[in-house]
Amino acid sequence: MTAPPLLIVGTGGHARECVEAAQAAGRSVTGLLDQDSAMWGKTLLGVPVLSGDPTEHTARDAEWLIAVGNNDARARLAAGLEGCAFATLIHPFSWVSPSAVTGDGCMIFAGTVLQTGVRLGRHVIINTGATVSHDCQVGDCSHIAVGAHLAGNVGIGAHVLFGAGAVARHGASVGDGATIGAGAVVVHDIAAGVTAVGSGVARPR
Ligand SMILES: CC(C)(COP(=O)(O)OP(=O)(O)OC[C@H]1O[C@@H](n2cnc3c(N)ncnc32)[C@H](O)[C@@H]1OP(=O)(O)O)[C@@H](O)C(=O)NCCC(=O)NCCS
Repeated sequence: MTAPPLLIVGTGGHARECVEAAQAAGRSVTGLLDQDSAMWGKTLLGVPVLSGDPTEHTARDAEWLIAVGNNDARARLAAGLEGCAFATLIHPFSWVSPSAVTGDGCMIFAGTVLQTGVRLGRHVIINTGATVSHDCQVGDCSHIAVGAHLAGNVGIGAHVLFGAGAVARHGASVGDGATIGAGAVVVHDIAAGVTAVGSGVARPR
C-alpha cells in the first residue's frame, strides 16, 4: 500500500531537511505550511508553501510532520492537530533496530543509529549522525541534535534539547525540559529544567 502524502509544518532548514528525507524515503510531500503570508504560493524544493493555519488543511488525506526544531513550539503545534495522523519519518540511510519503538511524528535523519530496545516518544527528532544505544528512552518532543551520542540505558525526559555533539554516559538520565549544551559530556544525572554545559576535565585516577 502506498503511504499517504505528507503535509509538513514549517519552512525552515529543519523543514527542508524533512522534505528531502521524505523524498529519499519515497514519500510525496504535498505542502509546507508557513504563517508568513509572504511565503504563500511560493515553492521550496518543488513543494508549494500553503497558508500557515494547520487547521485549514486537516480535511486533506495526508499525514503530518511538525518540522519545527524548537521543542515547545513543536509540542504546541502538535497539540493543535490532535486527532490528525502523524507520520514517522525515517531516512533510508539510518539504522533503526526492529525492536526499537518510534512514536508518531518522530523524525529520524540520515546517518543515525537506533539500537535494540530504544523507545522514542512522540515528535522526537534524532538529528543527522546521532546514535542512540540499547534500551535508551527519549521522551515526547525532545531533540537529540546532530552528532550526539547516547550510550546504553540513557533516559532522556520530554522537551529536552540534547545539544550537537554531546555525549551521555551509560545509564545517565536527563530530566524534562533540560538543555544539554553542544559538546557536553553527561556523566551525572541532570535534573529537570537545568542547562548543563562542559565536559569536565579528564584526569588520571
Ligand atoms: C548551552 C546553550 C543552551 C547556552 O545558550 P545561551 O544561554 O544562549 O548561552 P550564550 O551563547 O549566551 O553563552 C553563555 C556562556 O556560556 C558559554 N557556552 C555556551 N554554550 C556552551 C557550550 N555548549 N559549552 C560550553 N560553554 C558554552 C559561552 O561561551 C558563554 O560563556 P562566557 O559568558 O564565559 O562568554 C547553547 O550554547 C548550546 O550549546 N545549545 C545547544 C545548541 C544545539 O546543539 N542545537 C542543536 C542544533 S541541531
